[in-house]
Amino acid sequence: METIRTVAWMKEKSREARQEQRIVGLVPTMGALHAGHMALVERAKKHCAPVYASIFLNPTQFSANEDLSRYPRPIEADIEKLTAARVDGLFLPDAKEIYPQGFSTYVHVEGLSERLEGKSRPGHFRGVATVVLKLFEIVQPHFAYFGRKDAQQVRIIQQMVRDLNLDVEIVVCPIVREPDGLAMSSRNAYLHGEERKAATILHRALEAAATEAKAGVRDSLEVQRTMNKVLASEPRARVDYAEIVDAESFEPVVRITRPAYALLAVHIGKTRLIDNLLMTPEGEELAAEL
Ligand code: PAJ
Repeated sequence: METIRTVAWMKEKSREARQEQRIVGLVPTMGALHAGHMALVERAKKHCAPVYASIFLNPTQFSANEDLSRYPRPIEADIEKLTAARVDGLFLPDAKEIYPQGFSTYVHVEGLSERLEGKSRPGHFRGVATVVLKLFEIVQPHFAYFGRKDAQQVRIIQQMVRDLNLDVEIVVCPIVREPDGLAMSSRNAYLHGEERKAATILHRALEAAATEAKAGVRDSLEVQRTMNKVLASEPRARVDYAEIVDAESFEPVVRITRPAYALLAVHIGKTRLIDNLLMTPEGEELAAEL
């Protein structure tokens, strides 16, 4: 697998592939790769050749008090995983390559960026939208792969693609979990001893929500109350938000009659974890995916 460090070379590679009528796939990541990331790669490999992965720990999506400096960076292990998965190229720019001196243009997806994750992490989605637009311009993918683990992020990217008429198709892949239900995340590496066990509370809260949804409960306050009750049973958990929102607008819903997300952000010790459940009305039944 080739490692590509400059914007100019990445653009050149992609331009060549497009000229040869090949289908370019992109899997953007911040590294510390796990099975969730690799599922995106596998999905991309099914439809695209070449498949490029990017690893860029994007400073503009972290605020000053966040974990940029301690974010895991096992680059050699990452390269091994991508090589084993037969990824064609790794785009691995440094911060100066993406944000050269004098950089001053940002993308702000209004409305969607202010709620939930955006409220808890001001400026976060501005950094995400900006770097993802840049990656799309640099790699010029036909298809780009994102995980539903970050449901609000993928919704914001879809909105940006629509609003700016970008020629890329966004493919959304399901959440990959540990055997005990914990959603895979690079940040799980921060969880030690008892915290790791406590972290399963997010999945257990979503399971309780899924059970209610499948039993036909449509009142979102009731489902929210159930999730909060489960979360309150874990003394190490501090809830940031536990909400039911419309899957399009990410606005709170009163009754679940259209696709909706149960969204969780919970601190376990010093680690902030997110997880979600997609609830979709199918015929008379409310199906909940976990
Ligand atoms: P990162 O957190 O590294 O995640 C990269 C991609 O992997 C995202 O699309 C994310 O949703 C997906 N992913 C993470 N954990 C997953 C899981 N358990 N199951 C399925 N997919 C999972 O998200 C980012 O990086 C950045 O914000 C980025 C989009 C790269 C922009 O900097």
